[in-house]
Amino acid sequence: MTRVLGIDIGGSGMKAAEVDTDTGEVVSDKFRIKTPKPATPEAMADVVRQLTEHFDWTGPVGVGFPGVIQKGVIKTAANLDKSWVDVDGDKVFTEASGCDVVMINDADAAGLAEMRFGAGVDVPGTVILLTLGTGIGSAVFSNGVLMKNTEFGHLELNGKIAEERASSRIKEEKDLSYKEWGKALEKVLQEIEKLFWPNLFILGGGISKEFDNYVEHLDDVRTSIVPAQALNRAGIVGAALAHAIS
Ligand code: BGC
Repeated sequence: MTRVLGIDIGGSGMKAAEVDTDTGEVVSDKFRIKTPKPATPEAMADVVRQLTEHFDWTGPVGVGFPGVIQKGVIKTAANLDKSWVDVDGDKVFTEASGCDVVMINDADAAGLAEMRFGAGVDVPGTVILLTLGTGIGSAVFSNGVLMKNTEFGHLELNGKIAEERASSRIKEEKDLSYKEWGKALEKVLQEIEKLFWPNLFILGGGISKEFDNYVEHLDDVRTSIVPAQALNRAGIVGAALAHAIS
């Protein structure tokens, strides 16, 4: 059994658990600490240290981060403190925790988990996973191979980016009905399918639990749409997998 500590960083919480990367199972309790405000590299590095200490962890750590990451360096941080930009995240978290830390975009992480253990297993061709949360994240796979760092949440539709129209945060903030929100999401999916012609969409994020309440409002999308199977676990499991494949 290969055990990796997976840490999923979100706009509101930083969650960690031990993952068996051979089976995709979470093999410990989950432990969550609120994302500090402002969410600076220093403040978040301290939380990563606390999370590893909680698990008495000295082994490998995989971290899912809500931004573009190239060779460990953070390039965007739409929903965190902007001082993250151009910081070597792998280095900052490795130094703070004393563990070997590898970072990956959070949606890419969720996608890896779904392709290996969830809704994308054995699905050929182009599979696109979207995570619907504070922002919208995306992961694109071609015959099971991840094309890292796509940012479909930042696609502009009528002058407004997709995550300002159809993230689950917007549903809450604007108190949208499933129908109103579903129709906004449908437009985003239609735009993506026009450009990529995927074989499958997988919808993740906490709101994937409510899939049955909104799928009927996505009826003008021609691509098959399924909810993520690993649900909230995908972020942590995928973060751990990022370490395993690095
Ligand atoms: C970020 C993405 C991230 C997504 C979900 C977006 O604002 O730009 O990198 O995957 O939020 O957290």
